[in-house]
Amino acid sequence: MMHEALREADWQRLEELRAQFLAAQEGDASAQPSAWKNERDLLLYDAVYGARIGWKWDAFLRDALPRLVLPANARLLDLGCGTGVATRAFARHAAGVAASVQLVDHSLVATQVANSLVERDVPGLARTATPCDLQSLVAQPFDVLLVSHVIDEWKDEAWHAALRLARQASVVLWLEGGARATSRAMQRVREDLLTDFEPLLPCTHSASCGALQELNTHEWCHRFAQPPQEAFTTAHFSFAAKRLGLDLRSLPYCGLAMAKPGFHHARTHGLVRVLGRGKSEKGKATASICDVHGVRRVQILERYGKSTVRALADAPWEVDLLKLGFAGEHGQGKVVSIDPA
Ligand SMILES: C[S@@+](CC[C@H](N)C(=O)[O-])C[C@H]1O[C@@H](n2cnc3c(N)ncnc32)[C@H](O)[C@@H]1O
Repeated sequence: MMHEALREADWQRLEELRAQFLAAQEGDASAQPSAWKNERDLLLYDAVYGARIGWKWDAFLRDALPRLVLPANARLLDLGCGTGVATRAFARHAAGVAASVQLVDHSLVATQVANSLVERDVPGLARTATPCDLQSLVAQPFDVLLVSHVIDEWKDEAWHAALRLARQASVVLWLEGGARATSRAMQRVREDLLTDFEPLLPCTHSASCGALQELNTHEWCHRFAQPPQEAFTTAHFSFAAKRLGLDLRSLPYCGLAMAKPGFHHARTHGLVRVLGRGKSEKGKATASICDVHGVRRVQILERYGKSTVRALADAPWEVDLLKLGFAGEHGQGKVVSIDPA
């Protein structure tokens, strides 16, 4: 985080960066997301957009790490590292687990900034900064692949290169924003890696992705992180939200955690994942759920657990994994009970 107050020119630059990012997300081929001009661009990014991404990593890693068996002295590869948000978040949550990181970005200045921010925040971690396109990357041997907020910038060749690299990992931790098209792209990554990896998050099963079935094209697998206090209580973030039109109260994300055999704990069976946010109605909520029986829309009556059912719409991060009882077999029919997950 930058400690100096941002100037008018900084806010203007942040607006430009956001406009390019949104244009790219909407498929505008002329958009230039992450066209970093200099070190200040990256520091500005890190102070606002990177910080918001860091909050999502906090939620994702809190959930992912207990499911993983990470190798001692893990070697990280941070692909499209930007300012090293993913590496710094990993080190915050898995202190002392990683021994080294290779920071890769096709922007030289990004690798330089990431290198110095990782040195500042994680002094004991050995670093290699590699300014190159991921398609021409010769990766050092690594255990954990970190990817964050880059998928919308890739064309086919970069996709294939990323998936080839992912197969070399023992653990893949991949976090993207929660937009519908991004979620689709993440589901395709999951499908591609399914032959070698166990999907641990967001999935409660190892079957093919239910949201990719034709009848479910309207479904949208994403989750919400709980915003931290500082999103509401600091002048910096209050101003950023207003000036940049950023909704800091809503942190949608798609986080994919996958691990090869031997690098994860056994799955808890019988759970359902709630997709996104439920919709509250009088005495009930409607939500899309996913489990081994597929993706479907269900109604859950408040009488089975008022606070849980209300949280489906109001605080989805609290209830996005549930143990539901169904009237029929194989998870079909009405929901008739909620047990703690
Ligand atoms: C939106 S930024 C995200 C940065 C960081 N991972 C984060 O979550 O804050 C995307 C980064 O990926 C880099 N990038 C995009 N395509 C790339 C490619 N094909 N090879 C290497 N880096 C790439 C960009 O230069 C940029 O720094």
